Amino acid sequence: MKRVLIIWFSQSGQLRDIVESITQPLRDSTMIEVVDAELKPVKPYPFPWPFWRFFDTFPECIHADPDPIQPLNIADDVEFDLIIIAYQVWFLSPSLPTIAFLQSEQAKRLLNGKPIVTLVGCRNMWLMAQERVKELLNQIGAHLIDHIALPERTHGAVTVITTPWWVLSGNRGPYLKGFLPRAGVWESDIHTASRFGKAIATQLPLRSISDTHSMLKGLGAVTVHPELIGSETIGRRSFRLWGTLLRACGRPGGSLRRVVLSIYVLFLITMLVTVVPIIFMLKTLLAPFTPARVARQRQYFAAPSGELMERIIHQVES
Ligand SMILES: Cc1cc2nc3c(=O)[nH]c(=O)nc-3n(C[C@H](O)[C@H](O)[C@H](O)COP(=O)(O)O)c2cc1C
Repeated sequence: MKRVLIIWFSQSGQLRDIVESITQPLRDSTMIEVVDAELKPVKPYPFPWPFWRFFDTFPECIHADPDPIQPLNIADDVEFDLIIIAYQVWFLSPSLPTIAFLQSEQAKRLLNGKPIVTLVGCRNMWLMAQERVKELLNQIGAHLIDHIALPERTHGAVTVITTPWWVLSGNRGPYLKGFLPRAGVWESDIHTASRFGKAIATQLPLRSISDTHSMLKGLGAVTVHPELIGSETIGRRSFRLWGTLLRACGRPGGSLRRVVLSIYVLFLITMLVTVVPIIFMLKTLLAPFTPARVARQRQYFAAPSGELMERIIHQVES
């Protein structure tokens, strides 16, 4: 009997639905026991987010300074054969409850030396957040064997409006009488994510715990959009700079911090409608002239599961 731990946190329920779709085949298996562990912040984060609270959270996200979470209700002597960590992105970083868990003593005990699958559900920018998760897993001594990314498939120029609208209002759309589509990861993508659970359910019972090979290669677990690498890198640098400044102005909610934050929000909106689309277009135009570099970057960010889809095509054909 193999034991799988699934660690997750979700505000709207989107990531919970993704986790359910992926883990159902594991729960259906008679050879796998699934232990479900929801991360619970000691003081819950609001949903929908009040406008200022939303933006005031980014300095702590980028500087990995989370509020505490409750310890998971798992006995100290229980060992797992596989751990799935499902998280969402907050300001190009893993969400604060996810960081709190990965920094905890309990994470060290549960994850050290274990095979890990990471799963991200977000708008469309997850590359830098996954870099941070990889660093934290390395520090713990855990082995990342697979990564699944389920971003929103709607174009980024639309989700830059619809996703904030959703998390700031709680209304998921469609908006403006259908002019803007429903926010969030597409239902069809959530549904077909069960293919990852099926692949794990087939292979895990036959694997040893020291096996660190991918189980999800060829299943289209990840798609890397190279045009976004530049935007994410610049965005993260800018968040880091402004985050340092804002943290020097006091704790979240402080009055001096609010004044500087107002300037920052104006700066951010200006960046989003000017610099970000320009970088995006430049990257798209220049990509054909640097094919080797683009291929290298794609391979790096898509690891360890890769972008290939040949096992899906094979499933459809057979
Ligand atoms: C504070 C905050 C910041 C976010 N920042 C990002 C981001 O940088 N990149 C991204 O792709 N999605 C971002 N999102 C969207 C989330 O990753 C996620 O898709 C959404 O909040 C739904 O997750 P849920 O399952 O917790 O409801 C952000 C959401 C929130 C609430």
